[in-house]
Amino acid sequence: MAELGVSEMERMNTFGIGADAQRGLGAGMTLPLLFLATVVWWIWQRHKANLESGLPGTFGLPFIGETLTYVAKMKSPLGNFVDEKTKRYNGAQAFKSSLFFQPTVIATEVETVKMIVAKEGRSFVSNYPSSFALLLGRFNGLNMNGENWKRLRKFVISHIMRVDLLKERMADIEDLVVRTLDSWADDEGRTIYVEDETKTIAFNITALIVLNLKPGKVSQTMQRDYYPLIEGMFSLPINLPWTIYGKATQARVRILKTLEEFLQSRTVKDDVFDNYVQLLQEELPPGSPPALKHEMGLDLLTSLLFAGHDTTAATMVFSVKYIGENPKVLAELRREHEELLKRKQPGERISWDDCKTLSFSNSIITETLRMCNISTTVFRKSLEDVHVGDYVIPKGWLVLPYFRAVHFNPSIYPDPYTFNPFRYQDAAGSKLPFFGFGGGARLCPGMDLARAELCLFLHHLVMKFESWELLGNDVVSYFPFPRLSARLPIRVKRRTPPQQPST
Ligand code: HEM
Ligand SMILES: *[C@@H]1O[C@H](CO)[C@@H](O)[C@H](O)[C@H]1NC(C)=O
Ligand SMILES: *[C@@H]1O[C@H](CO)[C@@H](O)[C@H](O)[C@H]1NC(C)=O
Repeated sequence: MAELGVSEMERMNTFGIGADAQRGLGAGMTLPLLFLATVVWWIWQRHKANLESGLPGTFGLPFIGETLTYVAKMKSPLGNFVDEKTKRYNGAQAFKSSLFFQPTVIATEVETVKMIVAKEGRSFVSNYPSSFALLLGRFNGLNMNGENWKRLRKFVISHIMRVDLLKERMADIEDLVVRTLDSWADDEGRTIYVEDETKTIAFNITALIVLNLKPGKVSQTMQRDYYPLIEGMFSLPINLPWTIYGKATQARVRILKTLEEFLQSRTVKDDVFDNYVQLLQEELPPGSPPALKHEMGLDLLTSLLFAGHDTTAATMVFSVKYIGENPKVLAELRREHEELLKRKQPGERISWDDCKTLSFSNSIITETLRMCNISTTVFRKSLEDVHVGDYVIPKGWLVLPYFRAVHFNPSIYPDPYTFNPFRYQDAAGSKLPFFGFGGGARLCPGMDLARAELCLFLHHLVMKFESWELLGNDVVSYFPFPRLSARLPIRVKRRTPPQQPST
């Protein structure tokens, strides 16, 4: 203890605020001086790393850096932060900035992007903004690294996303899809806001998988509370009743209340929550408080409901838009699903394995994800200096492997702004670098579930409807997630040929 005390004093002395100085100046001066010293140290560190990194770019304003510009450009359809910077620095493959209060490297070159996701847990670790941890709970997966993250990921893969379990759920998932699409068919003249409808489909499916929850009052309340929560995830964490972040915090409180009530009301207690708490019981160090396990269980549920629903819903929305704009794609998609039905008995369900065989449908899903940028980038932090060509990614920086730049690089994806699912159909196409579900050790564990949901959605979409008319002038905004300003209004035209009996 004594030694610690001395070294502590020495450390303070180097800033000129040792014990004597404190006595002399009075405690009132200590804080401002410490603050000043911290600022000087911080500026010096940034300057040093900056000089050594060899990266083009600027940090922008103190502390806030270029965050406001970045967010503003992402929200508007006009600007594109990364493209503009790349151009300004003569096609640089990486540049520096300062985002979310951290010095940042944005990497746009495909091999570097691959390297960053491949070195997860060694040179790089996950590093999401702290507002994620505050709103989804600190044990939410994305904000976790090390042992707790490994345990959680193993649990998700082996208990929730296990293929045999998901196969059994296919009929229930299909029912949820069909119920909504039948309601579109019932009233042909109606304007359908696709975004609203797909959010509900995807939320109901995720709630079914994660909570074993049948649609009803609980899911409706919880779904409604998720959108203000998601809006707050990239906002400035200023907790006042009228700020975006403040509203998100209130939504979190309501979601947790609904979840607690739901957990209390269950009659059978052998589900995701209990299995996870049971596993933690066995694997956490002895003596870990029960409250901690309960918290970790709640955070798992909260974060899965987040990760699984808005992403899948957005993919559904954009697929309706892109297919609606491309009659050739629609025709080929329908041909694939008619072929599938020929191989099946009348009334037989679409299975997990059927979906795996539908290569054109899967290409549509891939191309939709490429075009709509749900996964623009992931958030990492460098654990060491990483040398890449003639620059260095300095230790401790925020690192953004920019998937979107790879997905729109014309030398990788020719004619990148055109929706063209046919591009994946040959041998070369199947090897295109694709990061729609991330990559490396954190590859999305919900990927196959999401593809299965989308497969069932596309099947009934093209079997029930001849075509659909896109009614609105939607403006795309892509922050924090891609959105269409008018929620994609459409009017459907039912198919005239006899429909297969609704399941
Ligand atoms: C089209 C739909 C989806 C997309 C585009 C998507 C995308 C992604 C991406 C890019 C990551 C990587 C994050 C990172 O590396 O930092 C990820 C992780 C994750 N996703 Fe998905 N996802 C989708 C659907 C789902 C579904 C349906 C679930 C579960 C119900 C899910 C659960 C997760 C979880 C738990 C993680 C964290 C994995 C980890 O940190 O190890 N996702 N997702
Ligand atoms: C999803 O759940 C909501 C509320 O729980 C319900 O109103 C809606 O009908 C459900 N949708 C489907 C497709 O089952
Ligand atoms: C995805 O990113 C590309 C390239 O930056 C952009 O042109 C396109 O509009 C984006 N799409 C959506 C739906 O956000």
